[in-house]
Amino acid sequence: MNLTYKQPVKIIFGSNKLNDLYSILKENELQKGMLVCDPYFIRSGLANKIMHYSKGLLTDVFFDITSNPTVSSVDTCAEIIRHKSIKFLAALGGGSALDCAKAAASVCLTKNSIVQYHSGDRKLTNEHIPLIAIPTTSGTGSEVSRKAVLTDPLRGIKAPISCDNFYPTIAIIDPVLTLSLPQKVTASTGFDALAHALEAYSSRYHRPESDAYCIEASRLIFEYLPKAYQNGSDMEAREKMSEASVLAGLAVDIAGTTASHACSYPLTYLYNIRHGEACAFTLDSFIRINAEVEEGRLHQLAIQIGFKDAYHMADRIAQMKTEMGMKTTLKDAGIEFSEIENLAILSMQPDMINNPVAITIDKLIKMYHSLV
Ligand SMILES: NC(=O)c1ccc[n+]([C@@H]2O[C@H](COP(=O)([O-])OP(=O)(O)OC[C@H]3O[C@@H](n4cnc5c(N)ncnc54)[C@H](O)[C@@H]3O)[C@@H](O)[C@H]2O)c1
Ligand SMILES: [Zn+2]
Repeated sequence: MNLTYKQPVKIIFGSNKLNDLYSILKENELQKGMLVCDPYFIRSGLANKIMHYSKGLLTDVFFDITSNPTVSSVDTCAEIIRHKSIKFLAALGGGSALDCAKAAASVCLTKNSIVQYHSGDRKLTNEHIPLIAIPTTSGTGSEVSRKAVLTDPLRGIKAPISCDNFYPTIAIIDPVLTLSLPQKVTASTGFDALAHALEAYSSRYHRPESDAYCIEASRLIFEYLPKAYQNGSDMEAREKMSEASVLAGLAVDIAGTTASHACSYPLTYLYNIRHGEACAFTLDSFIRINAEVEEGRLHQLAIQIGFKDAYHMADRIAQMKTEMGMKTTLKDAGIEFSEIENLAILSMQPDMINNPVAITIDKLIKMYHSLV
């Protein structure tokens, strides 16, 4: 065995765990913090409640964040941290708020823009201010990952940046926070978690421990995502989806993601498709491609969680996408036939290398052509 493994995030999981925020901050000697949150939580009042729960340990709020956060949001957040001498961040929201905060918590200790690190020109040093991640979607697993996915409109890309500094110090995963998710976001984020589990399982870098996380995460998602989608107040389904997304996030942190995630970045950037829905768009297609030549690994997973084989699992994914009103065809996604070649070229992102079957541009074009 030849292995370097680091998973430093302290995970605090359970319904209403957010109520313990003050004691968690106190225990970790954190003060003068800034809440970094999705603007939705300003409107919903939760941001205010959290400031109140913190009994003065959080002093500021930053909410200039959009879905698919931009490098300029990170730079603005980092500038406020420097200017106000903020000592820690608490990030509340989906992957967008968490990723913005993760990047800001590191880049604030430099004089530079995150663009220099996102573009690969510089490497971040091993320093960051502490970060408490409080996810409100069950999908990205960003709360346990060393990755932040950022969009740079000037360079015309959405791409991940990975760095050990980006691991949150603590993740407080409180499934109650996901009760307010709208149906569409429940579906999209649930499919993101499913893509994490199935891609990490088939990744060339999978390991026995990531396999175990993937099997349990995918089993939970096939059972509970339809329930959470049908009835957003189903607390058991919400809790199981939160559990699944953390497990899938832990798996991705070991094994990485593969072809569907590689394709998702240009699908989101060019066609404005939500991250999870963009992953789902090609997920069943790649399961079929990988199942043909992957010496049975995906079939083994499918059988373990109750399907006849990987093809039946792919059929169920296609059915769930339709049931949840997701985009399944080029037309639904707004992709013209003439744009497929460019889309295929842009889909050759680094995650593609992890795919167990070598994916060429010709294979991608054929796959996209089949989505009619
Ligand atoms: N860092 C990682 O490891 C990682 C992994 C996968 C994806 N991502 C990235 O994360 C981003 C997507 O994150 P996401 O899918 O969680 O969505 P998001 O953070 O963009 O949020 C989606 C929408 O849901 C709303 N929302 C969030 N929580 C809510 C709640 N509890 N109630 C009501 N509304 C709520 C938000 O306001 C927003 O409108 C993408 O940029 C994606 O690339 C990161
Ligand atoms: Zn993802």
